[in-house]
Amino acid sequence: MAERIILLPGDGIGPEVTEQARLVLVAAGKRAGLEFDFVEELIGGCSIDAHGTPLRDEVIEACRGSRAVLLGAVGGPKWDDMPVDVRPEKGLLSIRKALGLFANLRPAAVMPALVNASALRPEIVEGVDMLVVRELTGGIYFGEPRGREGKPPGPNGEKGTRRAVNAMAYAEHEIERITRVAFEQARLRRNHVTHVHKANVLDVSQLWMEVVDEVARDYADVELAHQLVDSCAMLLVQDPKRFDVIVTGNLFGDILSDEAAMITGSLGMLPSASLAEGGFGLFEPVHGSAPDIAGKDLANPLAAIQSAAMLLETSFGAKDAASAIREAVTFVLDAGHRSGDLLLPGETRETVGCRRMGELVLAALERD
Ligand code: IPM
Ligand code: MN
Repeated sequence: MAERIILLPGDGIGPEVTEQARLVLVAAGKRAGLEFDFVEELIGGCSIDAHGTPLRDEVIEACRGSRAVLLGAVGGPKWDDMPVDVRPEKGLLSIRKALGLFANLRPAAVMPALVNASALRPEIVEGVDMLVVRELTGGIYFGEPRGREGKPPGPNGEKGTRRAVNAMAYAEHEIERITRVAFEQARLRRNHVTHVHKANVLDVSQLWMEVVDEVARDYADVELAHQLVDSCAMLLVQDPKRFDVIVTGNLFGDILSDEAAMITGSLGMLPSASLAEGGFGLFEPVHGSAPDIAGKDLANPLAAIQSAAMLLETSFGAKDAASAIREAVTFVLDAGHRSGDLLLPGETRETVGCRRMGELVLAALERD
């Protein structure tokens, strides 16, 4: 029976990269005896334009009836002046919340072929292999109270009274479940977890400290370090190899995962999985909608393609098919093919477009 996958290509380069990921998913899935039935739905700005809302309930229902979701990206300048509650990004936040996708796994590993694509020195980045485990359905992204009040400055020089608030709130069960995910992942890797916090200032981080320490007692085989978020940001560029699994809240994880991604050369390479209790998952590249290059066949589809690999592995247990995709990506990069984002400023060499990069990965998949 065909397995239902919901495609949410979204905005900007989302549709281009998702299409290449879909083609690779079909080819790699076939090797694992999987056949897919794709249903495409709208999310983000395209949904605002078509339906007046960034995410319709019907789309959430469609996702609930599927085996997995593959998403592109949302947002763009067209919707930039809209209030946060009706913007394209709200669609992404709503789907994460509605599907209970609390565990965001963002692996950042340096591929040997791309060691020189990093803005950091090769000896610093060579061998970097970390996983950011970001809490995705709580914290300041969703905390109450939230919102704006007051008046803007008046026409005759009257001072404004505007005020805005967002609260960073976490309940201990939210911290506990994401921490368990991080420790379980560490067991599959190098048995080290770094908890990133701001406990010298925030009560919420002090609670994280306590709960993380409590969970750690169940994982005596995994080493735990606590690291302040500002010094973590520093250490990531000074000595990124020291990190194995990083576990942290929604906002810190958002920021640090972009930083971790750039250490590996390009945000255009990195996939992510967002998982619910029970394992249901949404898979998406870490990068955004890159409106400046949208529709020009310039985007790097490798993050979306590697998200397809995570989908196969996580939602279908198809480890060999996932490895085959990663090996195909490595093969293409080793052969010297590069999309524009993988060049350093000033570097000149021929680049390949989004479709061509997808074709190269497909050809590499079929090569044996
Ligand atoms: C991400 C993105 C989103 C986030 C935005 C688009 C809402 O930056 O997935 O990291 O902040 O979570
Ligand atoms: Mn982000």
